[in-house]
Amino acid sequence: MANAQERVFSGVQPTGNLHLGNYLGAIKRFVELQDRFDCLYCVVDLHAITVWQDPAELKRSIREVAAAFLAAGVDGEKHIVFNQSQVPQHAELAWVFNCVARLGWLNRMTQFKEKAGKDRENASVGLYAYPNLMAADILAYRATHVPVGEDQKQHLELARDIAQKFNNDFAASIAEHGLAEKFFPLPEPLIAGPATRVMSLRDGSKKMSKSEPSDASRINLTDDADQIAQKIRKAKTDPLPLPEAVEGLKDRPEADNLVGIYAALADSDPAGVLAEHGGSQFSQFKQALVDLTVAKLSPITAEMKRLVADPGHIDRTLGRGAERAEAIASETMGDVKDILGFVRRT
Ligand code: TYM
Repeated sequence: MANAQERVFSGVQPTGNLHLGNYLGAIKRFVELQDRFDCLYCVVDLHAITVWQDPAELKRSIREVAAAFLAAGVDGEKHIVFNQSQVPQHAELAWVFNCVARLGWLNRMTQFKEKAGKDRENASVGLYAYPNLMAADILAYRATHVPVGEDQKQHLELARDIAQKFNNDFAASIAEHGLAEKFFPLPEPLIAGPATRVMSLRDGSKKMSKSEPSDASRINLTDDADQIAQKIRKAKTDPLPLPEAVEGLKDRPEADNLVGIYAALADSDPAGVLAEHGGSQFSQFKQALVDLTVAKLSPITAEMKRLVADPGHIDRTLGRGAERAEAIASETMGDVKDILGFVRRT
């Protein structure tokens, strides 16, 4: 079973429709890691409110993301599934990290620049400090491995920098309290496979994203078979047939994207897909992709629907998960308080 020192943590924001990128880049991989690690999978609602959310919609969305985890095959009994706001140590540790991370580090975060856009003065302080909360999510459990899509790589590097600086800044106190020298592990990003960056179906140079206005740019986990078929048939391509070898995908972003999606859904790799489909016209390959996508997603979509119809069950799962998560996080936070020199309640 899992090495006691190793633990997986990852999170997904409850901000609107989950899409194929979230599934292939993250949720599908959460499921695959369950046999090798002890895992915590979190619906990161505190992250969601860094931009304004409609309260009723947020609640619906939290349950929907939890349902997606479970429907995809995450085992909420064996592992821990919860929503972030139920475990106060995330916000508590994030404050400590606000005091460890440097402004210069956060100023380099490209996602903040993208999300804040031109009107930076009007972005919330939370949006700016978001990577510190993300570091707290991971390090509250001293998680060692973090499965994410490519877009989270920079945030993971920041989490490692924060862990390292905390360990260095408080090395003497850590030793004095008899704690491990590397009190916080340096969490490793697990960014692997053919779909670490799923691109828009309308533009192979843009990431598939929840915030893209055109719904045709993404496949949502709630889409039915007809919607999936329509979106894939309309997906942008180039006029050439599929190449015979992976090198032929270079400078063909749309072809590369569709082959990557196929590979991830089929648990294969681009070379394997091209061995089968190289030389095909897109019309033919797209039909194969529709069939595969519908076959893989529709059982998940159906199970999500079933789960969402029983919010009481989801809430109980999240509540139990939160209790188990808090037991771990409060221990870390207790040590952190000792390390910092806070006086604890006796
Ligand atoms: P979020 O909610 O934007 O996305 C959830 C996960 O989906 C991945 N992803 C993609 N992967 C491949 N192709 C895409 N087009 C694509 N779009 C999204 C993301 O990389 C992510 O893994 N900050 C995080 C949530 C978070 C977190 C954490 C993650 C908060 N705390 C701690 C790991 C550990 C986010 O906004 O993900």
